[in-house]
Amino acid sequence: MGKLDGRVVLITGAARGQGEQEARLFASEGARVVVADVLDEPGESVVKDIGSAAVYVRLDVSKEADWAAAVAATKDAFGKIDGLVNNAGILRFNELVSTPLEEFQQIVQVNQVGAFLGIKNVAPEIAAAGGGSIVNTASYTGVTGMAYVGAYAATKHAIVGLTKVAALELAAKGIRVNAVCPGAIDTAMSNPAQLDPAADTEEAAAALDGFYRKLVPLGRVGRPEEVARLALFLTAEEDSAYITGQPFVIDGGWLAGVSVL
Ligand SMILES: NC(=O)c1ccc[n+]([C@@H]2O[C@H](COP(=O)([O-])OP(=O)(O)OC[C@H]3O[C@@H](n4cnc5c(N)ncnc54)[C@H](O)[C@@H]3O)[C@@H](O)[C@H]2O)c1
Repeated sequence: MGKLDGRVVLITGAARGQGEQEARLFASEGARVVVADVLDEPGESVVKDIGSAAVYVRLDVSKEADWAAAVAATKDAFGKIDGLVNNAGILRFNELVSTPLEEFQQIVQVNQVGAFLGIKNVAPEIAAAGGGSIVNTASYTGVTGMAYVGAYAATKHAIVGLTKVAALELAAKGIRVNAVCPGAIDTAMSNPAQLDPAADTEEAAAALDGFYRKLVPLGRVGRPEEVARLALFLTAEEDSAYITGQPFVIDGGWLAGVSVL
């Protein structure tokens, strides 16, 4: 018996990183998964690997028409939707006073509007299926500040707010809504060397290790599989039936307090 037997879950940004691990883990727990992304080739390849329990859908989360098409494609493939992981996101580094308006708006459009459109378009389907869960991917920067990621942090705080409001509005329809707030996770977002064929990935990983060994109480960067396990916990009815409206920090203790070591 899998924890998600019979469930159909749409996961955005699932062509790589945390979304990919969520798709793989959820499928291994019995779910049928929709791998949604703007990266067609990697997305198709994840689906090929998972097998008949997965389909790939091209979905730019910032576009409402794409959401309507993704909902239709999911119902075509699997007949219903009863889970959503709003995971897609982008990060840009800039001082607030140097951030071009277009850059700020682009980050809002993908991270914040994307999560809003996901809730808006998918929640009625989950309600029609008899209830289920939504997991939004915020960040540790959704609960505290970090220099040089002002636009990103603003969207991640907004996602925590959206999560609470959606939990209140959707509880009566049997939909639980929670947020994961990852700390530093070893994906292309925090370790762009993963995407550079010329990069020495071992060297980049070692540099990252040294950095996070000092910063993070548990002494290492997080793994995308670990965030996937938290998303599974929040999606699985048997584990989290009485939990809704909450942000869950998963950061190796980074935000626990001020370290003196
Ligand atoms: N890596 C970290 O340290 C970290 C920390 C906290 C939160 N997060 C959040 O976790 C989530 C997953 O990021 P990741 O670490 O796996 O990084 P990643 O860059 O590997 O994955 C992000 C995915 O989102 C997709 N995406 C980007 N724009 C999109 C759009 N408009 N429509 C659909 N898909 C789109 C990308 O193609 C990619 O597959 C993001 O929301 C990110 O903000 C990451």
